[in-house]
Amino acid sequence: MALQKFPLVGLLLLLTIVVSTATADGPVCPPSTKLSRSSFPQGFLFGTATAAYQVEGAVNETCRGPALWDIFCKRYPKRCNNDHADVAVDFFHRYKEDIQLMKSLNTDAFRLSIAWTRIFPHGRKEKGVSQAGVQFYHNVIDELLRNGIIPFVTVFHWDTPQDLEDEYGGFLSERIVKDFREYADFVFQEYGGKVKNWITFNEPWVFAHAGYDVGKKAPGRCSSYVNAKCQDGRSGYEAYLVSHNLLNAHAEAFEAFKLCKQCIGGKVGIAHSPAWFEPHDLADSQDGSSINRALDFMLGWHLDTTMYGDYPQIMKDIVGHRLPTFTTEQKAKLKNSAHFVGLNYYTSTFSNHLEKPDYSKPRWKQDSLISWEPKNVNNYTIGSKPFTAALPVYAKGFRSLLKYIKDKYANPEIMIMENGYGDVLGATDSVEVGTADHNRKYYLQRHLLSMQEAICIDKVNVTGYFIWSLLDNFEWQDGYKNRFGLYYVDYKNNLTRHEKLSGKYYKEFLSEGVRPSMIKNDEL
Ligand SMILES: *[C@@H]1O[C@H](CO)[C@@H](O)[C@H](O)[C@H]1NC(C)=O
Ligand SMILES: *[C@@H]1O[C@H](CO)[C@@H](O)[C@H](O)[C@H]1NC(C)=O
Ligand SMILES: *[C@@H]1O[C@H](CO)[C@@H](O)[C@H](O)[C@H]1NC(C)=O
Ligand SMILES: *[C@@H]1O[C@H](CO)[C@@H](O)[C@H](O)[C@H]1NC(C)=O
Repeated sequence: MALQKFPLVGLLLLLTIVVSTATADGPVCPPSTKLSRSSFPQGFLFGTATAAYQVEGAVNETCRGPALWDIFCKRYPKRCNNDHADVAVDFFHRYKEDIQLMKSLNTDAFRLSIAWTRIFPHGRKEKGVSQAGVQFYHNVIDELLRNGIIPFVTVFHWDTPQDLEDEYGGFLSERIVKDFREYADFVFQEYGGKVKNWITFNEPWVFAHAGYDVGKKAPGRCSSYVNAKCQDGRSGYEAYLVSHNLLNAHAEAFEAFKLCKQCIGGKVGIAHSPAWFEPHDLADSQDGSSINRALDFMLGWHLDTTMYGDYPQIMKDIVGHRLPTFTTEQKAKLKNSAHFVGLNYYTSTFSNHLEKPDYSKPRWKQDSLISWEPKNVNNYTIGSKPFTAALPVYAKGFRSLLKYIKDKYANPEIMIMENGYGDVLGATDSVEVGTADHNRKYYLQRHLLSMQEAICIDKVNVTGYFIWSLLDNFEWQDGYKNRFGLYYVDYKNNLTRHEKLSGKYYKEFLSEGVRPSMIKNDEL
């Protein structure tokens, strides 16, 4: 077990590359001696990722309607660190400049999301379409393609139109299913000729759990026994309902995609966001076996459903009547409703079997019969946690998770839709400190190596990797204080972008080997 703390800064990294020869039973990794693009199979895509709400700003342009987070941050400023997305990093006006940054990083692809509120400002087509909003995404996509960067587009990244919240409670109501399909169909028809890679939903687990079970994220709903800040909600119930409607909405969108003529040849998936778990006490077999249950609840909840058409049996057994049931027709639509598994990986934790659940206070985490522990029985932190790190750093968990998905779900194609490192610099925050991000560089090296081992040794079929994020941005409840970018955004000085050490590292990593866009099609 690599549970010891390891020093981050100043450690001489010996990134030994494992060379594998061509075999018929998995990805083919070219021989290489130094970790770089050239250590990965030919055609592997590297990129960066963002989301509309977190980077665009320009909240009153293109007739954009209010989003769930606009209202949440206005109503409860402290729950958004007293920040708001009005200005954000202004990707809306600076996308050309930012696409040049992507180009200078030597990236192949870029993941962005479309703000629903810019397309249907009031949530439904009959209430009006913003042509200026539609045009904005054409402009961004065209600019990416002109610069040789492949767009990956997320249809929904948490910015529910507020009008649908007000009208029927957004994802709490099954009415969202029809409205989401209409919207997804619209963007597929509009952009599907040029965008071939789609993500319907970003992190359904976070959306349901943080928004409706612990109340950390908009709309900030939960029971008061979970979080005293919640004014409304019902933990242990609403998150299941929200995910249920979201999954049906996904299945409908997938059906719309299959019927979309210009979308032929395209792919659709969901970006899941499980943690990896290690046993809290290696000697306790209950802790060991709790890991499968933890992953069924965190990943299987949405992944089993879109692969096999129903929730994992363990969830049905434990959650019982609080877990909604699918009709036969819904199950049929959900089954095999994704072309790939999108995965966002950040961190890991210890899983401790929960001996005494309190059934009078239901909540998602308790339902999984697990307590998440930041330290194990011997008082070790998982991996390491640099002083300003938002989350513990544990690259081994990344490889373990990839292997787990390969084995459990019959070797699907996996794309890493997000991986990255957040730092909260506090009083030391400045361009100088923010760009000297040794810990982020270290994080990326370790995770790229773990992914390379998963592909080349464990033969997991990973085909792409996106770093979260291109730029520092609006990190939801943390506001702007939690920075994830390869570029530092100087919020005090005209939002100027400054390359960080991690950006320089990614650029160099990607400069070696052959860019997919340089490989002839018949070689791919
Ligand atoms: C990985 O998945 C893609 C898409 O399904 C498939 O075309 C490719 O053959 C797979 N590669 C391996 C090595 O299994
Ligand atoms: C956008 O409009 C709202 C409502 O009129 C206003 O409160 C807000 O200040 C505006 N934001 C910007 C950046 O103009
Ligand atoms: C665990 O470590 C902390 C310091 O990190 C220390 O204060 C505490 O006493 C330790 N607990 C045990 C049980 O060793
Ligand atoms: C702020 O940055 C923008 C975009 O790079 C630029 O066009 C503008 O001139 C800058 N303004 C000032 C005052 O420097």
